[in-house]
Amino acid sequence: MKFDEIAVSIKELTKCFGEHTILNGLNFDIPKNKITTILGFSGAGKSTLLKHILGLLQPTSGKVSVLGKDLGKMSEWELREFRQNFGMLFQYAALFDSMTASQNVAFPLKEFTKLSEKEINLRVKELLNSVGIQDDSFEKLPSELSGGMRKRVGLGRALALNPHIMLYDEPTTGLDPITTKMVNDLIVETQELNRNRGMTSIIISHDVKATLKISDYVAFLHRGNIVEYLPASEFANSKNELVLEFVNL
Ligand SMILES: Nc1ncnc2c1ncn2[C@@H]1O[C@H](COP(=O)(O)OP(=O)(O)OP(=O)(O)O)[C@@H](O)[C@H]1O
Ligand SMILES: [Mg+2]
Repeated sequence: MKFDEIAVSIKELTKCFGEHTILNGLNFDIPKNKITTILGFSGAGKSTLLKHILGLLQPTSGKVSVLGKDLGKMSEWELREFRQNFGMLFQYAALFDSMTASQNVAFPLKEFTKLSEKEINLRVKELLNSVGIQDDSFEKLPSELSGGMRKRVGLGRALALNPHIMLYDEPTTGLDPITTKMVNDLIVETQELNRNRGMTSIIISHDVKATLKISDYVAFLHRGNIVEYLPASEFANSKNELVLEFVNL
């Protein structure tokens, strides 16, 4: 597919672990300002692909460019700086257990910005409100929050540094149906709220139905290659046997 603006460009990416080739000459462009989901059977290499986009793994061969920058040309230190362009929400929200909701969200702001305490407090309020956490929950510990609220706080923290790319690795796995719907709605809302500043969302998911509803584009990873890549509205009409099998599971 052709896009006007590209957030992530992957050319001929191959990754081997020992004798195992996990990614095999993969080509993949992810458009800017959109929600793109990567589907694939367990073990297909989705997380491995994500780690290359983050520069956490080095390709065996091939090239990964993010926001126009070739990651292969960056030093370890430059990569670490560059990762501030990413916000991440993982399967388990991974909050700091001993910190309140507001302390969790304040953490990256204290760590990576020169904002004053007052500015941080304002920004934390704005972030938590934007993900649907009301002021009366700001001082609660993660253990005092529901699973859905923990996800919200995790998302607030991931958004703290205005990431250009939000990455979601299995954001709804293990959640009940209502919380799943809430998280999916939140992903769409977050993309809408941040689109005008040029944010891109990339999701890795097993949840085909929700994926087709909330994504702009869907890619299917199989045996180290992207074997199907379509607008979400056309994905269920794929002619690829494996895709159809996956969609109808
Ligand atoms: N650091 C590593 N060393 C060796 N093998 C690895 C490493 N990381 C991943 N693999 C292998 O690469 C394959 C793909 O793993 P990966 O975690 O990317 O799959 P996945 O598509 O994310 O699966 P899941 O849906 O279960 O999360 C697996 O066979 C895994 O065992
Ligand atoms: Mg994975």
